[in-house]
Amino acid sequence: MSVLTVVGARPQFVKAAAVSRQLRGRLEETVVHTGQHYDRELSAVFFEELDLEEPDHHLGVGSASHAVQTAEVMVGLERIIEEERPEVVLVYGDTNSTLAGAMAAAKREPAIAHVEAGLRSGDTSMPEEVNRICTDHCADRLYAPSRDAVANLEREGIGAGVVESGDVMYDTLLSVRDGLADVSIDGIDVPEEFVLATVHRAGNTDDPERLVGIVDGLSRLPKPVILPAHPRTVEALEREGLRERANEGIDLVEPQGYLPFLRLVAEADCVATDSGGVQKEAFYLETPCVTLRDTTEWVETIEAGWNVLVGADADRIVDAVGAAGDPPAKPDLYGGGTAAARIVDDLERLVA
Ligand code: UD1
Ligand code: UDP
Repeated sequence: MSVLTVVGARPQFVKAAAVSRQLRGRLEETVVHTGQHYDRELSAVFFEELDLEEPDHHLGVGSASHAVQTAEVMVGLERIIEEERPEVVLVYGDTNSTLAGAMAAAKREPAIAHVEAGLRSGDTSMPEEVNRICTDHCADRLYAPSRDAVANLEREGIGAGVVESGDVMYDTLLSVRDGLADVSIDGIDVPEEFVLATVHRAGNTDDPERLVGIVDGLSRLPKPVILPAHPRTVEALEREGLRERANEGIDLVEPQGYLPFLRLVAEADCVATDSGGVQKEAFYLETPCVTLRDTTEWVETIEAGWNVLVGADADRIVDAVGAAGDPPAKPDLYGGGTAAARIVDDLERLVA
């Protein structure tokens, strides 16, 4: 059986790394890189660090509006589906590349398999929430990372094809965790105590009031803040005339490779982020997390006491980071690092 994997944005390379490793020698895999992310530090670096094979196809769509980006990926993928005739199209997460993969396959022969199915933040103003809902409703196999995700799908009437697989990002993280202490972090003066921050969510970067709140909150923290900045955030800071102000209290650095970034997560006293994946990585690496959003799809980390939602309010950010530390005992969430094996077992059964 052949699997056509669709990836295009930073977190998808991390997720696909675990599944591609399991697929090797079991099922034939063809990889399509949509080109949604194209800067070296958002794309190529992950292929190098995670030993991913070069994609078989590169669509090179680049940045564009939601409709244009999604449509261009669909057009390119339809052609590749015609050529390759895969039995399954495998999509990851909640980006425009995910939705486009599902939509391109939905009216064609291949089955659609969605890794990270069933996640819901409840906030349909997020492009990611729209992408998640639409992708799940097209998918034939739905790999849900948690029981909550399975319950969300049930509430939407989706039962068939759902597998509680656990989180593939945990698999990838476990494969590198033991070597993290030896990873070198170039170009950053890493202090003994610090807060690691990331901000890239459209709801924060494209809303000046929220962006100001986040910059103010992070700048006022008593510990130094390191913020590997997504290009979208750099652009927004410049657009809003906030670059100087941010530089005063925050060490704005380039996006980091996966390995140095995880080392920073592990060594930080606290993580402040609006990322989906980073909330979980903080949990796995036992660093308390403050989430710069009003909702999260990773609700279990909140219930477990390892994560707190503070939105974009400066005072709440300062208070929550100040209060972070000594979370309760860490429960096992999102499987035991065997998600990719479960997914590939299921894919094999699908065509048996
Ligand atoms: C996308 C996903 C988001 C995911 C994130 C991971 C959607 C709707 N959003 O957001 O869910 O969390 O990826 O990081 O799919 N840019 C560059 N270089 C690049 C890529 C982007 O400079 O290599 C800049 C461009 O100005 C672009 C902007 O970043 O317009 C946004 O890129 P885009 O891929 O549209 O969305 P992300 O914010 O990266
Ligand atoms: N990441 C990274 N370098 C960075 C910031 C994040 O390698 O400077 C990794 C991080 O470890 C995680 C993934 O990128 O595996 C998360 O991607 P992002 O926050 O862009 O997207 P989201 O998870 O919110 O969709």
